[in-house]
Amino acid sequence: HDLLDNELPDTEVFVVSNREPYIHNHADGRIVVQRPASGLVSALEPVMRACGGTWVAHGSGTADRDTVDAEDHVQVPPGSPAYRLRRVWMTDEEQEGYYYGLANEGLWPLCHIAYVRPIFRESDWQQYVAINQRFADAVVREATRPDPVIMVQDYHFALLPRMIREQLPKATILTFWHIPWPNAEAFGICPWKEEIIEGLLGSTVLGFHTRSHCNNFFDTVDRYMESRIDREQASVTLGGHETMVRPYPISIEWPPAAMEGQASVPDCRATVIAHYGLPDDIRIGIGIERFDYTKGILDRLHAMDDLLTRYPEWLGKLVFIQVVAPTRTKLASYATLQDDAIRLTEEINQRHGSETYKPILLVIRHHEPDEVYQLFRAADVCVVSSLHDGMNLVAKEFVASRDDEGGVLVLSRFAGASSELGEALIINPYDIHGMSDAMHRALSMPEAERRERMHLMRTHVRERNVYRWAGQILLDASRLRKRQKVADFE
Ligand code: F6P
Repeated sequence: HDLLDNELPDTEVFVVSNREPYIHNHADGRIVVQRPASGLVSALEPVMRACGGTWVAHGSGTADRDTVDAEDHVQVPPGSPAYRLRRVWMTDEEQEGYYYGLANEGLWPLCHIAYVRPIFRESDWQQYVAINQRFADAVVREATRPDPVIMVQDYHFALLPRMIREQLPKATILTFWHIPWPNAEAFGICPWKEEIIEGLLGSTVLGFHTRSHCNNFFDTVDRYMESRIDREQASVTLGGHETMVRPYPISIEWPPAAMEGQASVPDCRATVIAHYGLPDDIRIGIGIERFDYTKGILDRLHAMDDLLTRYPEWLGKLVFIQVVAPTRTKLASYATLQDDAIRLTEEINQRHGSETYKPILLVIRHHEPDEVYQLFRAADVCVVSSLHDGMNLVAKEFVASRDDEGGVLVLSRFAGASSELGEALIINPYDIHGMSDAMHRALSMPEAERRERMHLMRTHVRERNVYRWAGQILLDASRLRKRQKVADFE
């Protein structure tokens, strides 16, 4: 907030994302507010609470329309309003093409190397273009000044920066790509690669989580576009417009709001043990995420199977609670994953379990942030086994939840978080033996080592929190705005 006041005074701030931070649904004759399972929302929401402004997002809840005024605005968070939410509406057919189709059957598997074939349909592309234009028009209509700061989020809106720039040439457009950017060869199969790159290069700043994603982007531009790339200055110039391309590793708020009112670690453990009817001395492993094929959930279950086979001393002594929030369930790849995970859990539980012991508890439902933190605090080990992930904020949330410096993090080397959290036990999720060895090591780790590792990771996440992430992007924006002012004198 201070940074905005000092560096970007009197600035109008917008965030644009597909997912809205508060979803209003009808339930039992009431309106219930849900916080979506979304790394993007966990990161951006505290920033908006601190800065104020307008968040433009798709209105996706069953009661969204009941909660907005005539101009489609609602003040959030409910009960302690800090910023405005402007909903953009779309029909089911539009959502099929733009969200399920192009964004999640096309760009999601294209950018995540998880060996799921991307699907590109011309009709999806048409909807994607139309919805991007609708969001661009909504932002332009909301803007009361010619030079707002607009933070465009993610692969749903690759075309938005250019579309906004055409209508608001003086806007500062800060685009953040929350998922990986693949190598040029892999990206090259996209039939609309030029349009997507051109759209993104309407931005003032384009951010990725890691330097290697930035390098992949430079290589992709170099391969497919007529542009000027200055790797020294980390910029690309296309059609006379320059875009800075930089890594900004995203993070979480510190201290996290979900830590407020949390019971002590032993009490959280006792609550979780009582809830699942587990023995008092049980060791607990935890995995929490959206039910997504990029998260390596099946591989993790296989690792549990392998652990109980090769290290039978854990039989009856360890339970793995795998919490999964249903997501994009209309898509075949997601529905199949859910079926496979249920089947595999049953198989493993039959193989290693008994009347009274189930080694894996598969819990398929949405959990609110305070429930997630309670589970993290109850766990001995948290496993993040993404096959490919932009950052993965679950890893950082687990670390943030452990103010007792307990618990061990097992983390995939293919998650962006692994380049920051080197004190985790780093694994290759494709190597099942390696993963189960790491789980065994985590469960057997001496307390002093566990504390030291957790202490170092907590120091890192506390310092590199999401305010710093947003601050760094806004500082770069402020510098570029000042530079532009000087250029305007010439
Ligand atoms: O962080 C990547 C991301 O795709 C976000 O864009 C999104 O909010 C989140 O994962 C969850 O996905 P969805 O919004 O499709 O449920």
